[in-house]
Amino acid sequence: MLRVGVIGVGAMGTQHFLRIMNKINGATVTAVSDINEARAKEVIAPFEGVRYIADPYALINDPEVDAIVIVSIDSTHEEYCLEAIKLGKYIFCEKPLSASAEGAWKVVDAEMAGGKRLIQMGFNRRFDPAYEELKNIVVSGKLGEPLVAHCAHRNANYAPQYDDVIAVTGTAIHEIDTMS
Ligand SMILES: NC(=O)c1ccc[n+]([C@@H]2O[C@H](COP(=O)([O-])OP(=O)(O)OC[C@H]3O[C@@H](n4cnc5c(N)ncnc54)[C@H](O)[C@@H]3O)[C@@H](O)[C@H]2O)c1
Repeated sequence: MLRVGVIGVGAMGTQHFLRIMNKINGATVTAVSDINEARAKEVIAPFEGVRYIADPYALINDPEVDAIVIVSIDSTHEEYCLEAIKLGKYIFCEKPLSASAEGAWKVVDAEMAGGKRLIQMGFNRRFDPAYEELKNIVVSGKLGEPLVAHCAHRNANYAPQYDDVIAVTGTAIHEIDTMS
């Protein structure tokens, strides 16, 4: 059984947590960390044997945690990845890998120095059947050579802190991944 530690159980992290607990065979969450202790304790309450660990670094280093799921706010991903890489633990990291390109390279370099691929990013569109279908149509050439691509995001609402930087590091990053 793969023992997973989840950092950040906000909107997205709670979904990852519940998916591991309820749907994924061969994995379970043994520990959860979040600066919002009340929220974390509420999320784990229905499940026996899941510990709340206040310090995310302690969670990463915990001997009962084999792999880390990082779903805290964007600015924290880089440091948590670097810590987990140091220990050779597998990581699922929500996008972005870092809040800056330099930070992301730091993580990539650290992973490569260890000689082992440890990180999977939360680029979920790679596994989205509609995107896959679109890709198959484009690749088939049925519609001819693509000359231009128009990518658009449509969200019903957005957080007050959403700005033009996040529009790139948090949103357009999906398109950068999809188109590359
Ligand atoms: N792949 C996707 O399509 C997709 C969609 C939504 C969000 N995300 C990513 O998931 C991450 C979380 O987004 P969300 O919408 O759940 O946000 P959210 O604000 O709902 O949750 C973030 C959680 O992180 C916690 N947190 C904040 N600082 C922390 C710290 N230093 N250490 C530990 N926990 C901390 C907060 O208390 C909160 O519970 C973001 O990085 C976001 O970019 C990805």
